[in-house]
Amino acid sequence: MTTPRESRLSASTGRRVRHLMAISGESIERLRGIVRLASRIEPGDVLSGKTVATVFFEDSTRTKTTFVLAAQNLGARTVDLSTGASSVNKGETMIDTAATLAAMGVDAIVVRARQAGVPGLLARHVPSLAVINAGDGRHAHPTQALGDALTIAQAFDRDDVDLSGLRIAIVGDINASRVARSNIALLTGLGASVVCCGPTTLVSPSLRSLGVDVTHSMDEALDGVNIVMMLRIQFERYASGRGAISSEREYREMFGMTEERSRQLGPGVVVMHPGPTNRGLEIDPAAADGLVPGGARSLIRTQVTNGVRTRMAVLLDCLNPN
Ligand code: CP
Repeated sequence: MTTPRESRLSASTGRRVRHLMAISGESIERLRGIVRLASRIEPGDVLSGKTVATVFFEDSTRTKTTFVLAAQNLGARTVDLSTGASSVNKGETMIDTAATLAAMGVDAIVVRARQAGVPGLLARHVPSLAVINAGDGRHAHPTQALGDALTIAQAFDRDDVDLSGLRIAIVGDINASRVARSNIALLTGLGASVVCCGPTTLVSPSLRSLGVDVTHSMDEALDGVNIVMMLRIQFERYASGRGAISSEREYREMFGMTEERSRQLGPGVVVMHPGPTNRGLEIDPAAADGLVPGGARSLIRTQVTNGVRTRMAVLLDCLNPN
């Protein structure tokens, strides 16, 4: 059995493919290379003849659509396995589903799953497919982090994707966030310093083991930052649902990117959010849209735009690794 990080020959094309499972454990050279490729990649037909399948067992607007556009921009065919109507609902395993797609000539599958580890499982059992993790449980969302790194590199003119000297605050529901986990690994790997902030119930001190600072005070977190990355509370991951926090009004006051905080930060600081946003909770609408006079710049739409070119680079890296 192969490990997910090895490249393998595709059964359908006889060409080498490789996977993208997570940021942690991946070489910083490969990751920086993907971001640099994303910054300059142009549409073309380099993936003509390839087929990319999107297989999402969890909802998505940005990731799924940007992967489809990315594949089509490079000339690949795309198929979407609508998992609500797939044979997984008749008892077929996810491994059988992936093997079935491979037998049809699919070259790459882009997988999102509620359970951590599903993309790795598929990569081990169906090695002829390039498997790309589009988010698995609380574990990893590597392409979101790669796109965020590109957005930061562009905003601070770091063509070499060296983020040394930049201070980044990640604010919100960090314990449950695969985006935070992947961004922490990538941004610190690229040289940035990171502080995590949120209520004690959502931001645990053990995050320090990932090489970041932890605080439960927004004033402390925002002191001297260049970038503030706001995260949504993932209510769907808590048995108590919206009861995961005691008061939404209090949460906004203590940890939200309010218009007042945006103004205090000023236009030299950028605000990011991977989406989906809960406007009026973790971020005020005007702060999200960059419409606070004299306030922090919003890069939220740029993150989405960069999602397409980043996923083009990832598909090329996985399907044409040489
Ligand atoms: N950021 C992100 O993963 O968004 P979607 O859930 O819409 O894909």
